[in-house]
Formats: sequence, C-alpha cells, structure tokens
Amino acid sequence: MILPHASIIFILSLMKLSGCDVTTSCQMRLLLGLPPCGPIKTPINTTYQFCNIPHPYLDDVKETMTCELLKKYNPTCNSNFSIAYSNAPPYIYKDANGNAHGMLINVLREILITRCCLSCNDLHILPEKEYTNKLINQFNKSTRDDIVAPIYSNSIATYRLPYTGLLKLTKISIIGEKSELSSENLMAHLIESVIFTWPLLLVALTLAICAGSVIWLLDTWVNKGQFPRRFPNGPFEGFWWAFVSMTTVGYGDRTPSSPAARIFAVLWILIGITIFNMYTAGLTSALSDQMMKKVTYDMHGKQIGVLTNVPNINQTIRTHYASPKGFDTLSKMKDALLNDNINGLAMESPMAKWFLSHYKEELNEKYDVLLTLEEEADSSIGISTFEERITKMVETFTSRTHAYQVTGLDDHLTIDSEDNYEETTPAFTPTHISFILTVVLALVISILVIILGHFINQYHQEKRKTLKAKECNLEMNGNNADDSISH
Ligand SMILES: *[C@@H]1O[C@H](CO)[C@@H](O)[C@H](O)[C@H]1NC(C)=O
Ligand SMILES: *[C@@H]1O[C@H](CO)[C@@H](O)[C@H](O)[C@H]1NC(C)=O
Ligand SMILES: *[C@@H]1O[C@H](CO)[C@@H](O)[C@H](O)[C@H]1NC(C)=O
Ligand SMILES: *[C@@H]1O[C@H](CO)[C@@H](O)[C@H](O)[C@H]1NC(C)=O
Repeated sequence: MILPHASIIFILSLMKLSGCDVTTSCQMRLLLGLPPCGPIKTPINTTYQFCNIPHPYLDDVKETMTCELLKKYNPTCNSNFSIAYSNAPPYIYKDANGNAHGMLINVLREILITRCCLSCNDLHILPEKEYTNKLINQFNKSTRDDIVAPIYSNSIATYRLPYTGLLKLTKISIIGEKSELSSENLMAHLIESVIFTWPLLLVALTLAICAGSVIWLLDTWVNKGQFPRRFPNGPFEGFWWAFVSMTTVGYGDRTPSSPAARIFAVLWILIGITIFNMYTAGLTSALSDQMMKKVTYDMHGKQIGVLTNVPNINQTIRTHYASPKGFDTLSKMKDALLNDNINGLAMESPMAKWFLSHYKEELNEKYDVLLTLEEEADSSIGISTFEERITKMVETFTSRTHAYQVTGLDDHLTIDSEDNYEETTPAFTPTHISFILTVVLALVISILVIILGHFINQYHQEKRKTLKAKECNLEMNGNNADDSISH
C-alpha cells in the first residue's frame, strides 16, 4: 500500500512541477486517497471580534475569556436563543425521539452558540408549530421568540419580516422512477466516457512505449532471447513488457535480467501503476459524471409534485413544460408518487437527499434523482429575527466564511457544495501544453533510444565482422604461412 501511494505523490508533484493541475477533479482526489476538496472551513478568530459585537477591553482578556466577561461584552449571550420552527426536513425537523434536528439548527448552533457565545448559552428550541403561515403571521417585534425558521428567501414572508439567509439553494432535484431512463442512453454515455478519457490513455501508451524501448536498450545485450536486438521486434517486446507491468497483470513472459534494466524496471513499475491507476480513476469519474449529468429525463407534460409553501420551484418546473401539483407534506407527496398519481417530485437538492434516505424502504430503490435543475432565481433558506444582534452575529459568519455553502455541519447530511457539480477536468486535456509535451517527449525519447540501440547494435556487428575478418585474415595468413613453409 505504501509504495503506490508514495509513487502517486511523486507523480503528482512531478505533474504539479510541469504546470499540470491533476488535482482539480474531486472524484480523482477521492480515488487517489487525497483529502477531499470543498470549501475550506476557516475558523473565526473569536478573540478578535465577538461576531461583530464591539468589546472595548478585548486586548486585556485575550486568553482568559470567561462566560461572565463575555456576557458583559455581548449581552446577547446572556440568555438562550429561542427558536420557533415548523417542520421542514432536512432544515429543521423532529426526529423519532421528538428532538429537533437539521441543517439550520446545526448552522445556527455553530454560529451563535459555539463561535459567537463561546458555548456560554444554548439554543432553546420551542415545540414544533403547525406549518406555516400561522407561525410566520404571528411573528412580530413583540413576540417572545427570538428566531423563526425556516424562511425561504423570495417567499411572501420576507416582504413583512427581516430575513437572514443561511443556506444557499441552487439546485432542484426531480425524483422519479429509475425505469424511465433508457438503457440506450446509458450505453451511449459509457462509450462517451471512454472516449472522454482518451488523452490519459494516450499518455499511458506513449509512456509504455518509452519505457519499453529503454528496457530493450538496457537488457538486449545480455538477454537477446527475450528482447531481440532487431527493430521492431526488440522494442515491441519491451513495450509488451512495460504495458503488462503497468496494468499489474505481469505475465512474466518477459523479464529484464541485467541489474541496470531491473533498477529501471522498479522505477517504471511504480510510475506505470500510478499512471494506469490515474487512467482508471479518470474513466470512473468520467463515467459517473456522465451518468449523473447527461441522462435526460423528459419532463414534458408530466405532473410533478411540489410542496405548496416552497417558492421558485413552480416557475422552474413550468419552464420545462411540466405542471406542478401542490402537497402539504412530504409524506403525502411520497404516497402520491407510490400510487402513480403523479410522475415525479421536485424539491431542493438537500431535501431530495433527505427524502430518498428517509423513505428508503418504501421507495425500494425504484426511485432516484433523475434530473437536477438550476434554480431560476437566486434563493436561500434562513431565519427571521427582530433581534439585531443575532442578525449581526450571523452575518459576520456568512460574509467571512461563505456560510451559504457550509458543509459537514450535520451528521446525517451535508449541503451540496458547488464542487459536487463541478465539471470534471480531465487530468490531461488535449489542448493542455503538458499533455502535448508529455506525449511528444515520450515519443522522442523512444525514437532516440531505439536509434541509439540500433547504432550500438550495428557497431557491435561491424566490430564482430572486422573481428571475424581479422580472424579469417589471420587464418588465411596462417595458411599462407603454412603454404609458404610447405613450399
Ligand atoms: C486573532 O486576532 C488577534 C488580534 O488581531 C491576533 O493577534 C491573533 O493572532 C488572531 N488569531 C488567529 C488564530 O488568527
Ligand atoms: C439555557 O439552556 C440550558 C440547557 O439547554 C439551561 O441549563 C439554562 O438554564 C438555560 N439558560 C437560561 C438563561 O434560560
Ligand atoms: C404581534 O402578534 C401578536 C400575536 O402573536 C398580536 O396579538 C399582536 O397584536 C401583534 N403585534 C403587532 C404590533 O402586530
Ligand atoms: C405551485 O403550484 C401548485 C399547483 O398549482 C400550487 O398548489 C402551489 O401553491 C404553488 N406554489 C407556490 C409557491 O406558488
């Protein structure tokens, strides 16, 4: 395990040096065992600024911040924050034990409690309220609750209430029956994926040719049987050996025997395995990408279930010539889908993920996300609060660390970061200068090595000929001498 990893790092650094960014593809990084990509979480310097709340004695207290001191600077942390919510998985929802969970709660806890109030207080989550307009309509400046959640941006509520966005919503997932995707499409995408990765395959093959000719040059002098001296037989055997080693098949029908050749073989096996792994990784990633992206699900004329209170989705569905049908709850939507009353469901992608995992058993693997659409309008989900300090605290965080794309704050779900949908950049794109350089260099080296080998071979043969000729001459001279003696 250690050797391939070491060689991967070696190769990657080589490629970095040559200006080729192989680390851009997320799937590739995962397959290579590198740290996953995604937005980097920068910790907020809490001792620097308590989330936008002024605190004059800051410099004196840097190390010894206690809750008493904190509460002096930031009276907002004096009491627990109460949150009134209505059920909206996966943002805020009740679990089987009756405790409230969800992405919004996690983000709020992280920002307000852990980072801004240094865990000196807590969130006080009020019992779930019946959805939803009632909750929002009753919320005003004199209400005791500090925060109301969830609120969609672009919803009617935001005309009346202050709105603070927390999670960006960029994708709408269409859930439907998997069988509506044709296998013909899948086959086409498979072929497309293989074609898509041709640059890496070409690099692998040219490097194998290069390594093969070097092995031939190094070994043919002691191992004429396996690597014949003549071109093209000898270099071809070398290529065969290099390719078989690279793929880790290793038939062992050709084995280098001179020490120099064996040292080179060790080097090549390490490099070759890495390159071939990159090829398969590239293929895998291209394959999954193609599958996810290109499969088309035709929504034309279909009836798609939506949650009535979620804005924006209707518009997006209609632009795809489907008609929305409103439901109050996710469970009603699920029943309608299972009973074939509707063709599919549309919801934001975090909700779709939750939906598929929550109703996994009932959906019985027959349903999945068939299509992902961009939201037409820029939208997000967040909270409403009349407490200005809470808004300030949240906004410090969202503007500094782009909390709009907070990831990994939830144990069960992560919010889709842009990276998940990033175009895969193949390690070598055909126009990439290092790609052309690698291929050309490998071919030039191979040709030079083969020519060198050819000339050395010829030189040897000439030498042997002259040697033979000399021997003949000697013999003849000897014979002559004999003759002369006999004469
Ligand atoms: C936090 O801010 C203070 C004040 O500017 C600074 O001295 C300190 O180095 C910062 N700490 C970190 C971890 O950035
Ligand atoms: C805040 O909540 C915690 C537990 O969640 C509780 O122990 C504490 O007394 C509460 N503080 C106030 C001021 O209500
Ligand atoms: C605030 O809401 C309460 C009910 O939740 C209502 O009785 C009160 O009149 C409202 N106040 C204002 C200023 O709208
Ligand atoms: C979307 O359309 C459905 C069906 O016409 C409707 O019930 C629902 O209220 C609409 N949603 C919004 C936010 O307008």
